[in-house]
Amino acid sequence: MECDRAARRDRILMCAPDNFGVEYVINPWMENQIGEARRSLAWEQWMNLRRLLSLTADLTFITPVTGLPDMVFTANAGLVIEDTVVVSRFRTEERRPEEEIFRDWFDRQRFTIAPWPADVAFEGAGDALVDCERRLIWCGHGWRSSARAAELLERIFAREAIRLRLVDPRFYHLDTCFCPLAGGWLMYYPPAFDAHSREVIAAMTPERKRIEVSETDAMSFACNSVDVDGRLYMNDASDELQSQLRDAGFAPVLTPLSEFLKAGGSAKCLTLKLTDK
Ligand code: ARG
Repeated sequence: MECDRAARRDRILMCAPDNFGVEYVINPWMENQIGEARRSLAWEQWMNLRRLLSLTADLTFITPVTGLPDMVFTANAGLVIEDTVVVSRFRTEERRPEEEIFRDWFDRQRFTIAPWPADVAFEGAGDALVDCERRLIWCGHGWRSSARAAELLERIFAREAIRLRLVDPRFYHLDTCFCPLAGGWLMYYPPAFDAHSREVIAAMTPERKRIEVSETDAMSFACNSVDVDGRLYMNDASDELQSQLRDAGFAPVLTPLSEFLKAGGSAKCLTLKLTDK
């Protein structure tokens, strides 16, 4: 099945970085970064991403809340498919207060909120990526989301969920190292996965459609790209990766997000698609 790229504009949720900063350490990127994110630069970078995305997508915003420095990463609000949402259940105490705020927002926007057990960690579109091409959900587990999340998502959304085990703590959310693209293409960083998951990925994706990124590109958060109509908005990518993406029919758009990398996030983490099908 072809993804219907231009059928309608994507709707994307973002949260302004009013309260963004590195205030605690819950992933390796945050180590030694407490207080190091420059507020005005973060604003500038976030505004640039916002401006670029607004050219091709409809943006909607949730009001930032004081004391929740990671709320900018709206990918972790939940997973939305059509009009149903699974609101995140954060593994870490630090981010738990965001759950209620995002839940209220989804409720006000009239999404159907699917029931979810409190003892199953699930960090939303950070760890669950909708593959519209294959009508399935790729689910990461190992660091944040529980392995049990996949089967629950399968039942809620009535589509297959493929479990992938993450083994490198720098790539603690699936969207930091894996990016399914239109046309059955896949950009990913293989060493972030265990051997079995790498086999599953290979079995499901023809070799010519697998774009394997280098460690350098992975560390630049190249896989953490937002795909809107074939444009891939990302922090950075090597010339080689950019030309591979162009050959595959995509247009990389680089927009520096250094301040957010200090918290372990980048372009994709700063967005949540509300129009996935
Ligand atoms: N500091 C945040 C955390 O560790 C970053 C979240 C990045 N989000 C993402 N979807 N990868 O939870």
